[in-house]
Amino acid sequence: MTIKNWTAQVLLGLAALAGCGAATAQTAAPAPTTALAAAKAAAAPVAAGLGTKYSEKGADTCLDCHDAESDSVNFDTAAIFKTAHARRRDAHAPFGPGGLQCEACHGPGANHSDKSISKTPPINNFKASSLLTVTERNQICLGCHQGRSRTAGHAGAHDRGQVACTDCHKLHAERDPMLTKGSESEVCYGCHKQQRADFQKTSSHPLRFGRMGCSDCHNPHGTTNAAMLVKPTLNQTCFSCHAEKRGPVLWEHAPAAEDCSLCHASHGSVRAALLTKSPPLLCQQCHAAAGHPSVARTGAALPGGAAGGSVFLLAGSCTNCHTQVHGSNHPSGAKLMR
Ligand code: HEC
Ligand code: HEC
Ligand code: HEC
Ligand code: HEC
Ligand code: HEC
Ligand code: HEC
Ligand code: HEC
Ligand code: HEC
Ligand code: HEC
Ligand code: HEC
Repeated sequence: MTIKNWTAQVLLGLAALAGCGAATAQTAAPAPTTALAAAKAAAAPVAAGLGTKYSEKGADTCLDCHDAESDSVNFDTAAIFKTAHARRRDAHAPFGPGGLQCEACHGPGANHSDKSISKTPPINNFKASSLLTVTERNQICLGCHQGRSRTAGHAGAHDRGQVACTDCHKLHAERDPMLTKGSESEVCYGCHKQQRADFQKTSSHPLRFGRMGCSDCHNPHGTTNAAMLVKPTLNQTCFSCHAEKRGPVLWEHAPAAEDCSLCHASHGSVRAALLTKSPPLLCQQCHAAAGHPSVARTGAALPGGAAGGSVFLLAGSCTNCHTQVHGSNHPSGAKLMR
């Protein structure tokens, strides 16, 4: 079946979402053929070779060629009609009243649609082969999406690193993988190999199980915070879930109040509880090894050793006694033991 009318496509999309069968196009509103000046202002910048004229019939022009037969086995292009972009009553959406439809993103397409030209002229395809630079391609999206989480986009490493919106987002997919926690990290791992390895370690935040996403801690659109964290400081980022570690406590442990990453690796660790080192070494980075039952793991210090040994130095080591490493609220918890 070939459907070359976009409103029918929308109805089909909705029908597919609702799980019912075929739908007709009878209730569909007429497709807008002219575009609002405002929409045009936000629309694609023009690079040489792309042309400036919009097509006569909007999406219907495009679907004339990009139909089920020519496009692909699954007619992937049409999946956009199942997404938020195809909302017909949303005046801000490409397919809303007066919207530029396909050309809101792909730019003026009259040239490209001209059947009298034997070699199809190019059109913005959002790929590396596009005639538009990454900044220009992103500008198309930002024309409608400047606000919300993207206001500090320019300050982020992704903007600096020339990462395109469409390196992460798939717009012709019924469900953009980026918008689901379970599939989000897979897209990030595509470029961030080290993090893929980290999140496989024995102790790690539960991204593998789809219970969290990178975006719980990072704003991929960029922030003015270090490492594009969602909160101004690292500790505040952690407190958004581990609120009990926020305090205030009667007996603070200085490093915990200062920076969780002094002891924890945020992504993953081969040690228990995401620790960067195992006690006693963890603690002995700052606390002297001598003068206290802290010279562990020498023959003498272990049970049965020459010095009598202490079972407390096994397993949790220092934390066998100093259990309250994050600070204590007990009146006599000064030494973080209760
Ligand atoms: C006359 C037929 C025809 C019409 C009408 C048409 N296209 Fe195309 N389009 C093609 C052909 C053929 C290709 C493949 C060109 C190539 O591979 O170089 C193509 C490729 C594309 C691509 C992918 C380009 C790439 O480099 O991967 C996009 C995006 C596209 N068209 C969008 C549109 C849009 C949007 C419209 C409506 C404004 C439209 N097309 C109208 C024939 C058409
Ligand atoms: C909201 C923006 C947006 C709209 C609206 C849009 N596209 Fe696209 N299109 C993209 C992006 C981004 C890509 C690059 C691939 C991807 O992200 O899925 C793309 C890719 C394509 C391709 C190339 C597919 C491939 O894999 O080579 C075609 C053809 C195409 N679009 C046609 C259309 C047609 C026809 C319409 C209107 C019915 C349309 N697009 C509407 C953003 C859009
Ligand atoms: C003509 C305006 C317009 C353009 C251009 C546009 N969008 Fe959108 N987009 C919208 C509207 C409107 C929505 C629905 C907003 C909402 O639900 O709050 C939306 C929704 C989205 C969503 C959320 C989808 C969902 O299912 O919730 C993503 C992601 C998105 N757009 C990315 C992009 C990207 C990337 C581009 C550039 C390739 C782009 N948009 C171009 C208007 C636009
Ligand atoms: C590094 C990957 C990445 C890049 C690049 C990226 N996004 Fe996103 N985007 C995400 C993730 C992850 C989410 C979902 C989590 C969230 O809401 O923060 C999202 C959500 C969205 C949403 C829906 C929620 C909202 O904030 O309104 C829109 C719209 C959107 N992105 C637009 C864009 C635009 C426009 C660009 C380019 C300027 C862009 N994105 C670049 C990863 C990315
Ligand atoms: C529990 C919160 C959290 C989650 C989830 C998380 N990160 Fe991070 N990430 C951080 C913190 C905190 C830093 C800063 C580390 C530092 O400064 O010590 C960071 C740093 C980074 C860096 C900068 C390089 C580095 O290692 O310092 C990259 C890249 C990164 N994260 C990518 C990711 C990716 C990709 C994901 C998802 C697969 C992810 N992060 C999930 C908290 C998180
Ligand atoms: C297309 C490749 C690509 C994808 C996909 C991608 N990133 Fe990145 N990311 C980069 C580049 C490039 C940088 C900049 C690296 C640099 O400056 O060394 C970066 C840097 C970062 C940083 C470090 C920020 C800083 O200030 O140091 C974080 C955090 C990050 N990305 C998180 C994410 C998350 C979360 C996702 C998925 C939602 C993601 N990235 C997806 C390419 C990508
Ligand atoms: C979005 C919520 C969220 C944020 C933000 C968050 N965590 Fe977690 N954290 C979790 C969840 C969920 C678990 C797993 C709990 C479980 O498995 O029962 C966890 C577990 C942990 C564990 C124990 C791991 C283990 O193997 O026992 C540590 C340590 C930890 N987080 C530290 C941090 C640090 C440090 C930060 C800030 C960089 C942080 N978390 C930010 C949700 C979060
Ligand atoms: C001085 C080192 C140190 C600092 C700093 C530190 N932690 Fe821990 N954390 C530990 C140790 C050691 C454990 C393991 C406790 C155990 O084995 O009983 C742990 C365990 C945890 C756990 C899992 C068990 C539990 O108590 O819920 C979470 C969550 C956690 N830390 C979060 C944080 C957060 C959030 C911060 C920053 C506010 C932080 N930690 C700062 C040493 C530290
Ligand atoms: C990043 C450095 C650092 C690390 C790592 C660290 N501490 Fe501390 N610790 C401090 C500082 C600083 C103080 C405050 C010392 C003071 O007030 O004189 C402190 C105080 C203490 C106190 C209270 C001391 C007193 O005299 O009241 C105990 C007990 C303690 N730490 C145990 C531990 C244990 C157990 C670990 C390992 C799980 C650990 N510390 C890891 C820096 C660190
Ligand atoms: C067997 C129990 C036990 C173990 C194991 C233990 N401590 Fe202690 N620690 C104590 C007691 C009891 C005190 C209080 C001593 C006092 O008040 O005179 C103390 C006091 C401290 C103090 C405060 C300074 C001082 O000397 O009074 C620090 C710092 C400290 N311990 C660090 C550590 C570190 C680091 C480790 C691991 C290498 C560790 N402790 C292992 C029982 C233990």
